[in-house]
Amino acid sequence: MKLASGYKAFWEAAHKNYPDQIGEGGFLYMGLGISNVVESDYSDRFAKPSGRGWMPSMHPRSFHKRSTTIGALALTYKGLITIKTPFDLALYTRLIWELQPRTILELGSYQGGSGLWFADHMSMLCENPGEVHSFDLQTKCIHENAKHPLLTFHQVDLSDVAAFDENLLMRLPHPWLVTDDAHVQVFSIFSYLNRFLAPGDYYVIEDDPIRADKEIINGLQLVEQSGFLVDTYYTDAFGDNLTCAPNAWLRKS
Ligand SMILES: C[S@@+](CC[C@H](N)C(=O)[O-])C[C@H]1O[C@@H](n2cnc3c(N)ncnc32)[C@H](O)[C@@H]1O
Repeated sequence: MKLASGYKAFWEAAHKNYPDQIGEGGFLYMGLGISNVVESDYSDRFAKPSGRGWMPSMHPRSFHKRSTTIGALALTYKGLITIKTPFDLALYTRLIWELQPRTILELGSYQGGSGLWFADHMSMLCENPGEVHSFDLQTKCIHENAKHPLLTFHQVDLSDVAAFDENLLMRLPHPWLVTDDAHVQVFSIFSYLNRFLAPGDYYVIEDDPIRADKEIINGLQLVEQSGFLVDTYYTDAFGDNLTCAPNAWLRKS
């Protein structure tokens, strides 16, 4: 896992060479605050799902109703529908850089816009780009422009976990980033795919956790018992749980 480094040395040098610029009004003042966030290596970063509240700072799915401009920007990529908030796209960008995944599994392809986004970003941000596999029942919806050398679409009915190709899952290199955006048998699929996950892999469950109902609370208990912790760096980067995956940016311990 890649962590931001070099900030301690930078600030030591800044304090030594530009002590008058660190305070309010100085040209280094803003960077000091930002560098605490960039560092991302703090002791209470990983938390048990059961120890966290659910109230988001802002409802992550209501933002696009506030402004058509933001909505349009958020929901397309290279002209294809991409159902991700700008917050979540920024979070995935950071996670792909930090985790350096060799495999990204996307459950729910829709038009293929998000699969293309993941493949482009894996190409750009990973020193050793691997593979993106996107699964959907309705593969006819996938746009012909959703093409990338790293990206493969699979027609799979996710209501039956037996439909996955075990040979494919066994051969895919780690670390993995799994993103569940299909909203079908969420925790059955999690339990199934967990058999193939390794420590350090990430599993993001989009949208469903917003309900925070009994099914979700029980499901996240199962996730916790399976050794996953919430990475609060991602859930809370823009404000508490300001993401489509509240309490569900999960890292396998
Ligand atoms: C919210 S969309 C995915 C959006 C996409 N990831 C994006 O960000 O643009 C959910 C997708 O789940 C798929 N889906 C629904 N039921 C399914 C099932 N039983 N098996 C596989 N895919 C299913 C739908 O066809 C739909 O394309």
